[in-house]
Amino acid sequence: MLIHRIKKTPNQLLSISKKMWFACLLIAQGCFVTYLILGYGLTSVTTGLSGWSLLNKTAYIANDPTGNLMYAAHVLLAIVMIIGGSLQLIPTLRVKYTKFHRYNGRLFVLLACTISLAGIYLMVVRGSVGSPLTQGLTIFGGCVVILSSIFAVRAAKTRNIKHHQIWAIRLYLAANGVLFFRLIIFAWFLIFGTLGIDTATFTGPTVLAVSICSYVLPLGIAELIRYAEKTTNTIILITTASIMVLISLIFLVGLSGVVLANWYPAIVG
Ligand code: HEM
Repeated sequence: MLIHRIKKTPNQLLSISKKMWFACLLIAQGCFVTYLILGYGLTSVTTGLSGWSLLNKTAYIANDPTGNLMYAAHVLLAIVMIIGGSLQLIPTLRVKYTKFHRYNGRLFVLLACTISLAGIYLMVVRGSVGSPLTQGLTIFGGCVVILSSIFAVRAAKTRNIKHHQIWAIRLYLAANGVLFFRLIIFAWFLIFGTLGIDTATFTGPTVLAVSICSYVLPLGIAELIRYAEKTTNTIILITTASIMVLISLIFLVGLSGVVLANWYPAIVG
């Protein structure tokens, strides 16, 4: 009985740490969506798209209707995608409302791919801050979204639920990469200031490391969790759970930073 309990505890720790991470992500997504609705959504009605320049210098460029349309699609569709994406991961909804899961999943895939293609267009045609390497990592995130979408839908169609879940998680992580980036970089700002960041060009080793941690590392951690869930090795289970707790804390620190220094001031003006 005692051995049974000792064996069970690290699994429970991992399960709790995963829930903790998801809860932190939901809070961050809630703040991000609020910023997008009150910032981009409301401004488009009150001042028109030109008012978006106050939120992001590259958001609106006069005489570039295609770029402005791409940007509008990019940020406004993100509102629906972020809300819908997380609903897909809630087990009760998935099991009890399978029809909703199917339609919402199709919508999520469509939105995530459209947003990624619009983002790649903006980055290539309009340009963005950062080095070619960090921009390349953001584009990598967009490509992972598109590839994972194809594999997740294909697996769902052939009822290969195991593969569907694996690719859906990859899709979800890649689609949230831009949010991870904001949370991690603002956590860094709060703890280490601008160490390793050239603020004039938004380049430097820290920006590169944060890009890797946002667009590549989550895919690796998902693999680690998948492996940990199959093993009875206590060290692996506890290490994985600790990583999830650490990421949750980084998310919370970063969230307070990005809300106070960026999103809140951008909305209140
Ligand atoms: C699929 C998930 C994505 C979401 C939810 C998303 C969301 C957003 C949001 C909300 C903004 C406005 C930023 C602000 O006001 O702070 C933005 C800007 C931007 N995004 Fe994305 N994005 C995604 C993927 C991508 C990808 C894959 C690329 C390019 C490869 C990209 C390129 C851009 C660019 C160039 C901007 C303009 C601002 C800047 O230069 O940083 N996005 N995105």
